[in-house]
Amino acid sequence: MMDRLYEGKAKIVYLTGEPEVLLVHFKDDATAFDGAKRGTIGGKGYCNAHISAHAFCYLERAGVPTHFRELRPPTDMLCTRVRILPVEVVMRNIAAGSISKRLGIEEGTDLPFPVLEHFYKNDDLHDPLINTDHIRALGLASEEQMDAVNAMARKINGLLRGFFAQCGLLLVDFKLEFGVTSDGRILLADEISPDTCRLWDAETRAKLDKDRFRRDMGGVEEAYQEVLRRVEKAAG
Ligand code: TMP
Repeated sequence: MMDRLYEGKAKIVYLTGEPEVLLVHFKDDATAFDGAKRGTIGGKGYCNAHISAHAFCYLERAGVPTHFRELRPPTDMLCTRVRILPVEVVMRNIAAGSISKRLGIEEGTDLPFPVLEHFYKNDDLHDPLINTDHIRALGLASEEQMDAVNAMARKINGLLRGFFAQCGLLLVDFKLEFGVTSDGRILLADEISPDTCRLWDAETRAKLDKDRFRRDMGGVEEAYQEVLRRVEKAAG
C-alpha cells in the first residue's frame, strides 16, 4: 500500500516510488459551502479523472505546463509533485455564484472581459477573496510567481473556452490551482472538472456541473456523465 500524503475533500494524494511523482485518486465524495454540505456523486471520481486528463493534455499541447503525467484508470492519475501555492485563481466569463451575490450581477450576465479573482486557500478562514497586496503582504507567493500565474490563467481561459465550445458547453467560470516544482517551475495543478468549472449547455444553458449538487437540482450524476461523453466525443 502506498503512503498517503494528503487527503482533501475530493481527492487523495499518495506518494509513489519516485520522489517527483504523486498518484492522485479522485473520490466520489462531494462537499459544498466549505464542507457544510456533504454527499456522494456516483461515478464522479471516474468522470473527473477522465475529464481532467483530457483537459490537461489539451492544455499541454497548447504549451501550458501542467502537473499531469498519465491517467491511471479508472479514477487515478500520475502527477508531478509540486508545492501548491495557497492562492486559488478564479476566472469568470459569465456572472454566476459568488460574484453574482457579492456584486449584485444577475446570474447569466456576460462579463465585458474575463474577470480574474484570487482567493486565499485557507479552510479556517473559509477561502476569503484577496487582492495582489494581500498576497504579497502575507507572503503567499512572489510578485514574479503571481505575474506568471495570472498570465497562465488568462491563457488557460482562452484555451478552455475553445475546448468546451467543441463540446457544446459554455465555460461560465472555473477555479485553478498552481504549484511549484522542486526546481522552481510553475505548473497548473489540481483538476479541471465539473467540480471546479461551471459548464452550461451552449443551447439551453442547462447547468452541467456541481451547481446541480450545491443547489439540490437533481440529475447530478447524469450531468457529470454528459460532460465526459461530450469531451470524449470531441477528442475523437
Ligand atoms: P464561486 O462563484 O462560488 O466563487 O465559484 C467560482 C468557481 O470556482 C466555480 O466554477 C466553482 C469553483 N470553485 C471551486 O472549484 N472550489 C471552491 O471551493 C469554490 C468556492 C468554487
